Amino acid sequence: MTPDYALLARQLEALLDTRDWLTNSAQTCAFLMQEVPGLNWVGFYLQRQPELLSLGPFQGKPACHPIPFDKGVCGAAARTRQTQRIDDVHAVADHIACDAASNAELVVPIVIEDRLWGVLDLDSPAKHRFSEEDQAGIERLAAVFAERSDLA
Ligand code: SME
Repeated sequence: MTPDYALLARQLEALLDTRDWLTNSAQTCAFLMQEVPGLNWVGFYLQRQPELLSLGPFQGKPACHPIPFDKGVCGAAARTRQTQRIDDVHAVADHIACDAASNAELVVPIVIEDRLWGVLDLDSPAKHRFSEEDQAGIERLAAVFAERSDLA
């Protein structure tokens, strides 16, 4: 179930051959959806206004927008700037259910020069889908995206 994240990091570096964050974020979503097993949604939420996340490029069903910093798993990632790895989203009181099929969630904050640019959000129908190894791997892929993109 756990993909070879070192290989995925090299492949993503090769795929992101522009500095354009919009192109790169769309490519990153498609790449993750294709290469990481067991996902039903992958996408970026961007901080474009204070304390508010706006839906960015994603793969999956239409999703919730906007998300305030004080709500949900994405809000917690934005607020604390810590990755949120949730085994069962239904155990999280203020989880925002965009799709009833989602059961586990991993949200990685993307911080550039001490400013929160946005978050990368992965959802899975399988409870306990994301291990510590997945967390480290996805954090590495989020870092590849951030390093290879001009994040305005
Ligand atoms: N479940 C998230 C909302 C975003 S969707 O999963 C696409 C949350 O609680 O923040």
